[in-house]
Amino acid sequence: MAEMIIVIDEGTTSTRTMLFAADGTPLGSAQREIRQHYPGPGLVEHDAAEIWEATLACTREMVARAGGADHVAAIGITNQRETIVFWDRATNEPLAPAIVWQDRRTSADCAALKEAGHETAVQATSGLLLDPYFSGSKIGWALRHWPQLKDAGARLAVGTIESWLVYRLTGGVHVTDATNASRTALMAIEGEGGWNAGLCDLFGVPMRLLPEITGCTTVVGTTDPALFGGAIAIAGIAGDQQAATIGQACLSPGQTKATFGTGAFILSASGATRRHSSNRLLATVLVQEGDARVYALEGSVFVAGSLIKWLRDGLGLLASASESEGLARAVPDNGGVYLVPALSGLGAPHWRPDALAALSGLSFASTKAHVARAALEAQSYQAHDLKSAFAADGVDWAELRIDGGMAANDWMAQDLADMLDLTVERPDFVESTALGAAMLAATGAGIYPDLKTAAQAMRGTATRFTPALDATQRKTRLAGWQSALAKVLG
Ligand code: G3P
Repeated sequence: MAEMIIVIDEGTTSTRTMLFAADGTPLGSAQREIRQHYPGPGLVEHDAAEIWEATLACTREMVARAGGADHVAAIGITNQRETIVFWDRATNEPLAPAIVWQDRRTSADCAALKEAGHETAVQATSGLLLDPYFSGSKIGWALRHWPQLKDAGARLAVGTIESWLVYRLTGGVHVTDATNASRTALMAIEGEGGWNAGLCDLFGVPMRLLPEITGCTTVVGTTDPALFGGAIAIAGIAGDQQAATIGQACLSPGQTKATFGTGAFILSASGATRRHSSNRLLATVLVQEGDARVYALEGSVFVAGSLIKWLRDGLGLLASASESEGLARAVPDNGGVYLVPALSGLGAPHWRPDALAALSGLSFASTKAHVARAALEAQSYQAHDLKSAFAADGVDWAELRIDGGMAANDWMAQDLADMLDLTVERPDFVESTALGAAMLAATGAGIYPDLKTAAQAMRGTATRFTPALDATQRKTRLAGWQSALAKVLG
């Protein structure tokens, strides 16, 4: 019986596919880098055709590893959220660059909407804030600036990355799932929860361009048999941060995870009722099973692993990302050096798209080890600021489950426990995003009766890090961070 699951995890910097057994055991993976295009300051674009080609190639590898399409029960898809794709329904080709979630081109548009007093209503309906991060303002901008989109008329389709991939995999099914839809700022996240006419008007997005919103464990279609030598059901979809929350089995109210990927995203499950934030956190859909939605409160930090990548590729300070751990351990403390990583503005809880990064506290005694250490410490400080914002919203973390590539760094995991003064738990298999999508697909394919059962059955073992830093040192370091941050915020 076909009981293996293939997961497509299309992230910001790479596309990866993984093969899982029904009990969550990883059986193989394939990965391709995705080129980043930076056509100007604040602009970040992807080539959606490249994303599709890379995804197809990686998926084919996993179908072969499974022994053919007949051995695969279902495909699950998880993806970088908010990034928006414009394509032609007739040719299946992209009509413009994909505008990436990190792109700040709509900063002025969002500031003007804020100035005009729209943020309260946007937050009440969508759970989000007025920031260029979300897809709505990006779609509106593209429709105004790229004439080929208007010229395409009824042939134009718009969607986030999972929507684009489903369209290509199935040969024309235009859907999105509720978690990805909840990141566009075009959806009302409560009640019936469809596309919202007021929000679509505000951002200048005709609703007819948008996909149909489905649940996360719904079979949305089957793959075109020509692609993999047989049709495979697509039975699970969620945005990558929601998928990681599911993969960490954070499904009950208050359970919280932090994923350290390109950015760092902390989500705390809220249950069946959406929680309103007074501290600039986001309300978002965590999962939709059938018609039932579960919500989460989210703190989105834009720069995490991308900071280490920048130290390596942009500054040439590191030969490899993993070198950062050894460097951090090579010095007894940060030597007064702080790095505020506002390389693409600042997200939660500040929401300052205009902020620029700063390295402060340098002297002739500073070495690259201090800079590397400051980069890792910055992850703990940003998590600490979110912990305070969550607490002010009435959500106290009992512990924090961490995952993502960067979480494999033991020094960072311990520093998080120390600075948060909290137990930090890390699964031994840190790819919680892919595992969460596998849980969704296994549920959608009927291998498990519901997501809770899938999560219990498929989650593996974990390692715990307990706080070991004295309160005075913690206080001194936090004070240093706060003063570095204050200079950036101006
Ligand atoms: O909201 C953006 C997020 O989905 C990107 O995730 O994994 O590329 O850091 P990642």
